[in-house]
Amino acid sequence: MAETVTFWLNDRRVETDEHPGLLVLDYLRKKRFLTGTKEGCKEGDCGACTILIGELRNGKVVYKPTTSCLVPLGEMHRRHVVSIEGLNLDDELNPVQRTMTDRMGTQCGFCTPGFIVSMCWYLMASGDDQPTLEGFQRAFSGNLCRCTGYASINRASTDLVGLFSPDGPHADIWDADDRIRALCDAGLLPTYFAQIPDRLAAIEPLDEDPHDGADLADYFVAGGTDLYVQQGEDIPRTTVKVLNRHPEMGGIERDDEKGLFRIGALTTFEEFGQHPEIQALMPRMDHYLYLIASLQLRVRATLSGNILNASPIGDMTNLLLAMDTTLVFHDGTTRREVKMKKFFEGYKTYDKKPTEIMTELLIPIPEKGTKFHFEKVSKREALDIATVNSAAKLRVDDDGIIHTASLTVGGVAATPLWLERTQNYLEGKPLDITTLRRALTIAHTEMSPISDVRGSADYKRLLAHQLLTAHFTELYPDRISFDALMAG
Ligand SMILES: Cc1cc2nc3c(=O)[nH]c(=O)nc-3n(C[C@H](O)[C@H](O)[C@H](O)COP(=O)(O)OP(=O)(O)OC[C@H]3O[C@@H](n4cnc5c(N)ncnc54)[C@H](O)[C@@H]3O)c2cc1C
Ligand code: FES
Ligand code: FES
Repeated sequence: MAETVTFWLNDRRVETDEHPGLLVLDYLRKKRFLTGTKEGCKEGDCGACTILIGELRNGKVVYKPTTSCLVPLGEMHRRHVVSIEGLNLDDELNPVQRTMTDRMGTQCGFCTPGFIVSMCWYLMASGDDQPTLEGFQRAFSGNLCRCTGYASINRASTDLVGLFSPDGPHADIWDADDRIRALCDAGLLPTYFAQIPDRLAAIEPLDEDPHDGADLADYFVAGGTDLYVQQGEDIPRTTVKVLNRHPEMGGIERDDEKGLFRIGALTTFEEFGQHPEIQALMPRMDHYLYLIASLQLRVRATLSGNILNASPIGDMTNLLLAMDTTLVFHDGTTRREVKMKKFFEGYKTYDKKPTEIMTELLIPIPEKGTKFHFEKVSKREALDIATVNSAAKLRVDDDGIIHTASLTVGGVAATPLWLERTQNYLEGKPLDITTLRRALTIAHTEMSPISDVRGSADYKRLLAHQLLTAHFTELYPDRISFDALMAG
């Protein structure tokens, strides 16, 4: 595979033959001496290393805030990499820097570049109808600050809301067709941003087959959010296959003829959760996303990476398992489909050959009236891995008979658990409290939790019981009332 990658780093064109597995964070700090981007945890947790990565989509550059400590340099071909230095104006502070300074949003300053980048992203690219404090908070949900207690950062954000809201002095910028150009024209963003679409378009796309060199690769890197945490030191010394160089492995399509959604394996959590078809199936998806990692992680973490890291508590894994997903693998010559319900074999083991790449996920388009629900409990409410999670796909006919009941639980077995016996019991039964109680008893016979740092086996059983119950009380409150359940 050709290793030279060409990209724009702030206002400079870069061509580099550095190892494709080198972290963008290390490249910025150690090779380019752009030390504004800070190294904190190097595990995606603190956000000090946040940068923007811009990519051409339909002639426009779409930017995402990203933790550079988990991103391989080899993916940067035809991208715009923006470090904190790239957001500086010539002679004055940009509006985010100005409000953070005015409101004392910085103390020791270590987290500050990361916050500024995330907040600039919100101004440049948020899809919110108008700016809000909650929107800023969503944007910096992956940025931790140990000094300020966040109050001063919230005050700076509130000032920015005032500047860009409908009655603020920059209201026209928020509503502009091309907000980035409008920010440049107003002198609030460096003017070179306006030239980036043409500059990226001038770089030839890579012409590689996803399977080229796959047999020689020590690692396949997708979003890198799991792999770099586990193998970060090793990867830049090995042969890597950077899957995100292949945009054809993304995207979501509805195939009515076959009755399924085709989801590219490299679809990220955010792309999946924000897609209108998926939102239509799961109206509470925004809340589920809030429970999963941070924005910086969700714009990187892929569905295939979540399934193939094979954690029993992968959030999307448990949701996709409940959705009766089929996985598609390709080794360059042979295409193979595997039902997710048959895929996991034991702790971190599954039915996949080393040279196979997951290319697609196939999700059956649900029958009318099917409902989905996801529940998760973790030690912290946000930005934490689950102690136990659970997903449900349920359809109950008008006469109250359960037509479909696909239930999964994570964290109570060596693999993500699809409750087959519970499903077999539920389907065809009337949905009432007696049925639910009997189903929960069966569900417990399918679980085998162990005690670990996240909780004791008994605690996990209790959580699983409550989360399974919650699917029914949330989706069918008229048939399974929480109060009636509590009454005995
Ligand atoms: C701070 C932090 C918070 C997190 N929070 C959560 C959370 O709340 N919920 C949660 O579920 N997870 C969480 N994670 C874990 C992680 O982000 C997810 O598991 C993510 O989905 C991994 O996807 P990735 O694309 O980054 O995978 P990678 O790290 O790139 O890869 C993971 C594994 O999958 C393989 N792989 C990936 N795609 C393919 C493919 N198409 N074909 C062949 N092999 C492939 C890789 O080789 C590797 O073995 C968190 C991680 C961090 C660092
Ligand atoms: S250094 Fe902490 S998220 Fe990257
Ligand atoms: S100002 Fe010190 S960590 Fe935020």
